[in-house]
Amino acid sequence: MKVVSGSTRMVFVFKSNVIKIPNIKNYKLFLNGILSNLQENEFSKIGRVDLAKVKYCDFLGIILVMDKACRVNIPLNLLKKTLEKKYKYDYMKEFMLSDFKLSNWGVVGTELVKVDYGS
Ligand SMILES: Nc1ncnc2c1ncn2[C@@H]1O[C@H](COP(=O)(O)OP(=O)(O)O)[C@@H](O)[C@H]1O
Ligand SMILES: [Mg+2]
Repeated sequence: MKVVSGSTRMVFVFKSNVIKIPNIKNYKLFLNGILSNLQENEFSKIGRVDLAKVKYCDFLGIILVMDKACRVNIPLNLLKKTLEKKYKYDYMKEFMLSDFKLSNWGVVGTELVKVDYGS
C-alpha cells in the first residue's frame, strides 16, 4: 500500500482500489476534502466511463473508495492535445479538463479516466 498526498486529501493506494480521506492537518483543507469526496460521489453516479468509478462514499464524505487507476505515462502536452480533441463537442469539456495535471488522470482497463474530479 502507498500513501499519496493530494491538495485536500490523503489517498491510500491499494491493488485495485484507492481510499480518499480529507486532510486532517488543516481544518479548511479538511472541509474542502469532504466536499471533493461528496462531489466525486455525485458525479460518479452519472456513469461516465471517463470518470474513475466511486464504489463507496459515506454520508459525511470522510471515506471514499474509488477504482484504482494506473498512471498515464505520456508527455503532458500530448495528453492535453488528445483530450482537447476528445472533448471538443462534449458538454462537460470544461469539467473534464479542469485542474489539468498528469496525476489527475489514469487508466482503468482500456479507458483513460479522470481520477480527481472533486472541486
Ligand atoms: N483512482 C485513483 N487511482 C490511482 N491513483 C489515484 C486515484 N485517485 C487519486 N490518486 C492519486 O492520489 C493523488 C491525490 O488524489 P486527488 O484525488 O488528486 O486528491 P486531491 O483532490 O486532494 O488533489 C492523485 O494525484 C493521484 O496521484
Ligand atoms: Mg488532485
